[in-house]
Amino acid sequence: MGSLILGLETSCDETAGAVVEDGVRVRSNVIATQHELHRKYAGVVPEIASRAHVERLMPVVEEAVEKAGVGLSDLDAIAVGNRPGLIGSLLVGVGAAKALAWSLDVPIVGVDHVAAHLYAAQLDRDDVLAYPGVGLVVSGGHTSLYRVDGPMEEAGGGGGKNEGRSGGGITVIGKTIDDAVGEAYDKAAVILGLGYPGGPKLDRAAQQGNAKFVRLPRSMLGRDSLDFSFSGLKTALLYAVRGTPDHETREFPRELDALTEQERLDFSASFQAAAIDTLIVKLERALDQMGDARSVIIGGGVSANSLLRKRVVELADERGIEACLPPMGYCLDNAAMIAGLAHHRLQAGAVDDLELAAIATTGVKRGKR
Ligand code: KG4
Ligand code: ZN
Repeated sequence: MGSLILGLETSCDETAGAVVEDGVRVRSNVIATQHELHRKYAGVVPEIASRAHVERLMPVVEEAVEKAGVGLSDLDAIAVGNRPGLIGSLLVGVGAAKALAWSLDVPIVGVDHVAAHLYAAQLDRDDVLAYPGVGLVVSGGHTSLYRVDGPMEEAGGGGGKNEGRSGGGITVIGKTIDDAVGEAYDKAAVILGLGYPGGPKLDRAAQQGNAKFVRLPRSMLGRDSLDFSFSGLKTALLYAVRGTPDHETREFPRELDALTEQERLDFSASFQAAAIDTLIVKLERALDQMGDARSVIIGGGVSANSLLRKRVVELADERGIEACLPPMGYCLDNAAMIAGLAHHRLQAGAVDDLELAAIATTGVKRGKR
């Protein structure tokens, strides 16, 4: 059964709308970013984000429908990322999705943002991702490893409510105990004076620097752990750049201005090497522990990272499994991944109703490896 689904995504600081056909053919993918609003705070301010979603969402929806070359009456369902995220931001998308679904008399499908990131690699491709796979979602809010047995968080599609259950299609097998890797990138970019949002800028700088300039820590948390820790890496970078702060005054001996351009590039490359090495070691461990993985599936903003993409392809080649990377346009928060995954929920009858709630936490739960 074919489907044409409009997806909405407002969980953080991107207001996004997309139309996807049959779960894979992206007919439009519109993203209105709010970076300029949050830049001066060097991070997302929740209240500003929700207000901006209110202003931008309907123009984004109109553009998505127009670019897809369809009418609202052609849509089979309205999908919305309803969890996890900033609650005020999620509410804007969920409210708009309910109004659209009600007025068009089509089903509403709530989609888990984390499951959607793990689905992004499926967009624009005809053959189905190789399951089971080891999943890695790396973004500003998440750094987690998953056992992925299928696109939906519930085994077999669930009972119609967007309620994740452990032991389902996607289970958490490791996660960060402190910062997310995207957050570490953003903070490292502030330490290096690279600007906001920091991830892409640091990635670009790193490509021109010497990764062996300083050796920064790769936190492994013990021999078998699949969890992550990035706060030590961030602090180690701060001390490497500015020196160890004075015991009493807590002042740094060096100013950021003292950095030469070359040092900035070299520190960036050293940070990138440590961050990505850590992710790759954990992926290797997860593959070893899972045993039956046929793929590595990555998603989230940091899956746009040049070194991570290269290393994941190399790792998959070494192991004779498939590297499933999202096309670049679907790494960062977008609504195409929401609309795409909603196709599978619709097919499985896992649809919602006007009671659909916005929920701050993910429905993807921890489970056995
Ligand atoms: O998935 P996303 O748009 O939002 C969240 O769900 O958090 O991810 C945004 C994060 C930011 O922290 C950003 O700095 C990071 O992804 N990011 C990158 C790159 N592009 C985006 N980090 C490293 N390298 C990149 N090329
Ligand atoms: Zn995201």
